[in-house]
This record gives sequence, structure tokens and C-alpha cells, in this order.
Amino acid sequence: MKKYSPKTQDDTYFNLKSYENLYDKSVREPEAFWAEQAAQNLYWHKHWDKVLDYDFTKAEFKWFLNGRLNVAYNCIDRHLEKRANQTAIIWEGNEPGEVREISYQELSNEVCRFANVLKNKGVRKGDRVAIYMPMIPELVFAMLAAARIGAVHSIIFAGFSAHAIHDRVIDSDAKVLITANVSLRGSKTINLKKIVDEALSKENPIQTVLVWKRTESETKMREGRDVYLSDELKKVSNECEPEILDSEDPLFVLYTSGSTGKPKGILHTQGGYLLYATMTHRYIFDYKEDDIYFCAADIGWITGHSYIVYGPLSNGATTLMFESTPLYPNAGRYWDVIERHKVNSFYTAPTAIRAIAKAGSELPKKYDLSSLKVLGTVGEPINEDAWEWYYHNVGNENCTVVDTWWQTETGGVMITSLPGVADMKPSYASKPFFGIQPCLVDKDGNEVLEREGKGMLCIKYPWPGQARTIYADHERFKKTYYRDFPEKYFTGDAAERDSDGCYKITGRVDDVLNVSGHRIGTAELESAIVSSGIVSESAVVGIPHEIKGEAITVFCILSKEHESIKTALSLVKESVKKEIGSFASPDTIYFVSGLPKTRSGKIMRRILRKIASGNTDELGDLTTLADSSVVDNIIATTLGT
Ligand code: PRX
Repeated sequence: MKKYSPKTQDDTYFNLKSYENLYDKSVREPEAFWAEQAAQNLYWHKHWDKVLDYDFTKAEFKWFLNGRLNVAYNCIDRHLEKRANQTAIIWEGNEPGEVREISYQELSNEVCRFANVLKNKGVRKGDRVAIYMPMIPELVFAMLAAARIGAVHSIIFAGFSAHAIHDRVIDSDAKVLITANVSLRGSKTINLKKIVDEALSKENPIQTVLVWKRTESETKMREGRDVYLSDELKKVSNECEPEILDSEDPLFVLYTSGSTGKPKGILHTQGGYLLYATMTHRYIFDYKEDDIYFCAADIGWITGHSYIVYGPLSNGATTLMFESTPLYPNAGRYWDVIERHKVNSFYTAPTAIRAIAKAGSELPKKYDLSSLKVLGTVGEPINEDAWEWYYHNVGNENCTVVDTWWQTETGGVMITSLPGVADMKPSYASKPFFGIQPCLVDKDGNEVLEREGKGMLCIKYPWPGQARTIYADHERFKKTYYRDFPEKYFTGDAAERDSDGCYKITGRVDDVLNVSGHRIGTAELESAIVSSGIVSESAVVGIPHEIKGEAITVFCILSKEHESIKTALSLVKESVKKEIGSFASPDTIYFVSGLPKTRSGKIMRRILRKIASGNTDELGDLTTLADSSVVDNIIATTLGT
């Protein structure tokens, strides 16, 4: 296996020895370690009484008990004395060079004004505020405004459909929804408000829709419900006292996919989440005063929450947010942004790296990327080729590549190589962050004790950034993450550990797909497909895809003869678009006459996966199938015979 020695700058935070010393302390005396970090990293209006209280069986975890703080205060107010004029957010819009720079003072003014608007609309501590917005600074103002007044934001990725929005506002019982007239993505203009109107055409708890005008184009406003933010903002002041909250009050709900159809509203709380986002951002990106930091994720997902907004702003950093797509107007867009803004750390997903790499290695060479020192990757396993391409062509062999493994549920990065610490090994996420105690477990639930091994990845001690519950469904939380392996958090991922104790994440072990870094449940897709009304049953599998990581392959049974396969295909695709969003659109759809099921009726996806990837010689044991003749029929369909 190839290895690259650690890259260091004069002021890199850690080397192998100092990492090991601090890591040792963090697991030997976790409470003392986290107490020290919480005191150093955050401003507390009231000190906590106890660091940690937990019970794995009940899936209850509390950090910094009775401590009081405000997240927006930590991300803005505490920096004002020193950084009022420093840029907090650099916004690069859809068109190259369309830039806004927002100082910490301006951020403070905007967030307070947004907070006052929310208050005027009756939002109080604990109320849920849904946000469905493009990647514009107003999205950040909205989330920090909610945090400032103790409301709980629930951001819905702007690629989701009306149906998905409806499900989420119902589940979170949100009373206000913030959106924009349109979202601009490359050459596309998406009418967000129209999608919201459709979502709210069925019964729902939303009383007010606040609309930001991303462009001047008019949008239909519903009397008594919809108001333009620009009108409301004129009525309020720049000042809004922060609500001082309990460390364990909820901060946000973010929906993610699981192995059953209904998305899970992952809930994070104040103190622990912010501490974890702050520390991981600083150390993993080796963040230093005056650095320009660019995370190219979308704030609609957890990476944007923790590493565009909360982590960087809590550190008083300059965070760059990007509205467009990596290929607009061409595959050099990220490099153009990095050159113009002299970016020091850059964070993206393997799928983007692969898509850009396809355009060739010459493109990055046309730009001055010498400001870069850390390159991050997240969201899915990175293949060695993509890693090498990133390291050589973007990092010019001078940068640390941090492969960061984590999840919506973990709040922040859990396993990664820290700059300066260990050899970098392509495709290895490497070592645990401070305080994180990963372990591998075999299928009988026994921990793999040898240093080298493979198994299901679990975490055997609490950490401050962990999710506290699934909104309004603690039983599901317990069952999903804490039931199968007692006294451990089960991640749903499999991993391998090498002789240096470095982890390589190999992928999900549940029915969750990872398509272009998006987490999509097969059950969710199957229910969307059946909603087309023309399918009686369906099974979805993921197969390896060169750019997307996994491609969505559907096997389904038509409920009645359809006039043409072409119409049937488009009806199934339309249904997925309508129920979830275009980003979940299937790559291949096969209409078959039966699905491979066990005698107890369970679909054997393993067989479908093999057939879909053309490995029909390796189907394995078929004797458990209720009717093995369906397999031949499916193979014939995939071969078009
Ligand atoms: O399977 C793992 C994969 O993404 C899943 C979490 O998805 P989500 O909650 O949407 O959060 C994505 C961004 C944090 C994980 O269970 N995953 C994430 N990062 C990596 C990864 N797989 C391999 N390597 C990674 N670095």
C-alpha cells in the first residue's frame, strides 16, 4: 500500500507524539478532557454542574449538564470585539465572480434582524422553523437567527420535492417556513416557492412562509400566509438579545435516510454539538487566524451545518460558501474560486473529485492553487485513484489530505488523519479524533480484539457531538443505534483496521445507498416507485458507479400491462422525482415478472446486486429462494433477451 509522510507547517497543531498523548488522555480521563475543551473553546453564560450523564440501554446522553450558553452568541457576539470588521462569510454566487463579503458585524446585524422577524411571527423558544433555501448567506442568517432565539431549525435540502418537504414539516411540526423565490444552480433556475406552495397545499402546521427574493422575479404570494422577508426586515432593529439556553436544549433537527421508509429527524443539542463542531473544524483543517476556509458541501446536509456554519464561525473563521455546482461553467470552477479567494483549506466529496478529474489533470494546473494546505474529503469511501488525483493534481503533493469519516448522527468528524500526525494512506480515514473510541464488532456482537481486522463499526463511549434522539421517536433511536450491540453506538458502516490501528471504511451494511455522497434509503425509494401506481412491487439495489460511487438500480413488477415500456419508465422516474427529488432518480430500471424472495418473503437483494453488476456466475446459494426460476427471468431481462 502507498503511504505519504505527514505534511507540516511551522505551526501545525499536532505531530504523532502530541496526538497520541492527547488522545490517550481523552480516553483515559474523558470527562476531564472534555471539561477542559469546553472551557477553552466555548463561552458559557453559566458553567455546567456535571460533564456527562449517560445510559446506553436507554440511549440517553447528556453533556455539560445545567451549563447555559447560546450558539449564535458563540458564533458571532464573542468575536465582535476583535473581529467586527473581519470577513465572516465569503459568498461566491452562481456566476463566477459574483461575490459578497459579510463581516462579523454585518453577520451580527443580519442575524439579529432575522431573529426579530421570527419573533414578530410568533416564533418562541423550542418552536421548529423549517428552512428550504438556496446556498445564499440568508440561509445562514436564518439558521443562526433560530439559534439565537432558541428555536429549532430544520433545514430541508433544496433538492427535495414538495412531497418530501410536506413529510418533514409534518414530522417536525414546524410553524414557520423560510424559503426563496428561486434557486440558481448552474444554468438552471428552480422555482423553490412553487415547490413550497405544492408542499403546503395539503394540511400542514405552517402558519407563515417568509420568502427571500434571490432574484427580482415575482412569485405568487398567498394572502395571510406568505410575506417577503425584505418587507419584514425593514420593520425590525439590528439588535436582539440572545436567549440563554440549557446545554441540552435542542439546536436543530436534520432529516436523514435509514433502512425503513420514513426519514429520521436527527436531533442535535446546543453545548456538546457546538463544542465538537468547533474542535474538529480547528484541528482537522489545521485552522489558523486569517485562513480562508472553503467547504463545498450544501448546508442542506450535515457537512454544511457543522463545517460551513457552526464549526468555522465558532472559531471566528472566514468561511466561504458556494452557490453553484462544481461543473459550472466548467470543471475548473473550484480551482477558480480557490485561486481568486486564496483558499487555504478545501473540503469536498469524492464524487465531485471524480467528476472533475474526468475533465483531465491539465485543468487544475492552469490555476494558482499554492495557497492550499489541507484538502478534505467526506461523504463516501474515497477510491485510491480519486485520492491520488486530489493529492497530486490539486494539492501538488504539498497538502494534507484528510479523509473524514462521520455521519449526520455523529455531529462532527469521528475518524480522520489529522494534519502532521500520521502517514497518509489513500482510502484510509485513519485514526479516531480525540475522545472517540471506535471498535469493530463481528456479526455475533463480539468485539474484534486483534489490532488488524474487519467488522461492523461501533463507538463504545459517548462523545459530545452525538445525536440525542430522533425527533418525536426515541424508541426508533434506541432500536436503530443502540439495541443490536449493547453499550455501543452502531454506525451502520463496515470497516477494516490495519496494523497501525488505521481505519478504512468500506461502506454501509444496511439498506442505505450512497449516491454521489447522498444518503438514500432503499425502502424510501421502493415506496416512491410503488407510488407511481403502475408497480406492484419493487426492489432497489446500489451497484458501483465510476463517478457517483453507487448507482440506483431498480427491479420492479408492473401491476398491469403498460402501453409502452418507455411510458412506464418515465412514470416510475417521475414518481421518484415527485416523492423524493431528482437527485434520487434511478439509473437503471428493469421490469421483471418476479423478485427473488426467501420462503418468509424477504427480498434477497444480494442476488439482485450481483445480477445488476453483471456477476451472474457468483450468485451463490439459491436454495433458500421460494422460487428460484425468477432468477433466470431477471437475468434474461437485464441482458435484454
Ligand atoms: O457510509 C458512511 C458515509 O456516509 C454515511 C453518512 O452519511 P450522512 O449522514 O449523509 O453524512 C455524510 C457526511 C458526514 C456514513 O455512514 N461516509 C461519510 N464519510 C465517509 C463515508 N464513508 C467512507 N469514508 C468517509 N470519509
